[in-house]
Amino acid sequence: MPEATKEYTTVATTDEFDSGDRLVVEVKGHYVAVFKVGDKYYAIEDVCTHDDGPLAEGELDGTVIECPRHGGRFDITTGKVLSFPAITDVPWYPLRIEGGDIQILI
Ligand code: FES
Repeated sequence: MPEATKEYTTVATTDEFDSGDRLVVEVKGHYVAVFKVGDKYYAIEDVCTHDDGPLAEGELDGTVIECPRHGGRFDITTGKVLSFPAITDVPWYPLRIEGGDIQILI
């Protein structure tokens, strides 16, 4: 998608989250998983690149999410794939906090 067509979209508010929480939102046809770890927020596509597993339903270890379907792992701070059977990075979205709003660029 060309950068010019992207824009920040409010997907949630910070008072909805405690550390370790995650929320799945639908934005522009994408299912996006928003995580809070410590005092930071991260957003990645909620669809595993191996076989479409729902990543936000997986175990979160620090900033690593394990797909609940076959155990592929991804770094939620970058979307980088970390372990087999997934071999492709998952889309990662820039995120900002405006007031109490969580906004992602998509
Ligand atoms: S669907 Fe995620 S590892 Fe297979």
